[in-house]
Amino acid sequence: MKPIISDKQPKPIELEQGKTYAWCSCGQSTSQPFCDGSHAGTAFSPKIFKAEETKTAYMCMCKHSENPVFCDGTHKTLD
Ligand code: FES
Repeated sequence: MKPIISDKQPKPIELEQGKTYAWCSCGQSTSQPFCDGSHAGTAFSPKIFKAEETKTAYMCMCKHSENPVFCDGTHKTLD
């Protein structure tokens, strides 16, 4: 089962050092790029991560990044 492509461009998010986030891996959340529980009943679960520093991060929105939760440019290769 493949994730839904939420968008084909990353979303800049201001992350706060030490704060924990839940990145949506299924693509169905309406609170992108974060999980809103919409994955319930699917094989997907959010990727929980802690921000290592306070900075603007470019979050993966296509859900196909090889380096989730961040954009690695994979969206450019998707149809
Ligand atoms: S809504 Fe997508 S992983 Fe939770």
